Amino acid sequence: MSIGIIGSGNVGRALGQLFSHVGEKVILSHRHGVASLAPVIAEMRSTVEAGTVAEAADQDIVVLAVPFNALDELPTKVKADAVVIDATNYFPSRDGERSALTEHHTTSSELVAQHFGTKKVVKAFNTIAMTKIRSLAKPNQSSDRIAIPIAGDDAAAKQTVTNLIEKIGFDAVDLGGLADSYPAQADGPLFLFTGDADQVRAQANK
Ligand SMILES: NC(=O)c1ccc[n+]([C@@H]2O[C@H](COP(=O)([O-])OP(=O)(O)OC[C@H]3O[C@@H](n4cnc5c(N)ncnc54)[C@H](OP(=O)(O)O)[C@@H]3O)[C@@H](O)[C@H]2O)c1
Repeated sequence: MSIGIIGSGNVGRALGQLFSHVGEKVILSHRHGVASLAPVIAEMRSTVEAGTVAEAADQDIVVLAVPFNALDELPTKVKADAVVIDATNYFPSRDGERSALTEHHTTSSELVAQHFGTKKVVKAFNTIAMTKIRSLAKPNQSSDRIAIPIAGDDAAAKQTVTNLIEKIGFDAVDLGGLADSYPAQADGPLFLFTGDADQVRAQANK
């Protein structure tokens, strides 16, 4: 299994490190030349390589770690069975006013799924601050593991992401389909919330 990460800022770097710590092969990309990622890659484990955005988009798992408004600039094609992890958040002030999102006619991850033309989009990692994620990761069976909310329309894709989340040190709480992901959006009760699985389930309904 290989993981492509599009975006090499806070999210791309933090997730790249966490995935590489558990031995996953990662291609980290951004919109500039591959060579310009050399200093970032140098600080990571050897399972992380720099690549183009097209190369990152051609992996088994593709992580979106860009501002939401960059979506339209990303490739639309991923592998037929690829799982797309949507770690983005929609902020009107940064990404531009979109009434369909601010008025909750649709979720931002449903727009991501439309962009890629796949049901295998899983919203994950967008609620947790990357400044904290490494210190919050805990070994399996730790009593103080926190949970990351996920949502998606494809059960197998969600299982793949759940396995990855558990491997790097968290539990996963399934909120349902992408249409059920409002609580995990930037204007929802789970945004920046940290808690264990029961606390995340309770917070989702607040
Ligand atoms: N920061 C957090 O703690 C956190 C936590 C969870 C989720 N999020 C969400 O995750 C996303 C990324 O956040 P971040 O903090 O990592 O942002 P960031 O530090 O600003 O990094 C964004 C990355 O995306 C790249 N990028 C921008 N437009 C692109 C495009 N069209 N094609 C390819 N790459 C592009 C940027 O490249 P340039 O350097 O060229 O601009 C940069 O590498 C956002 O949607 C954010 O809301 C953030």
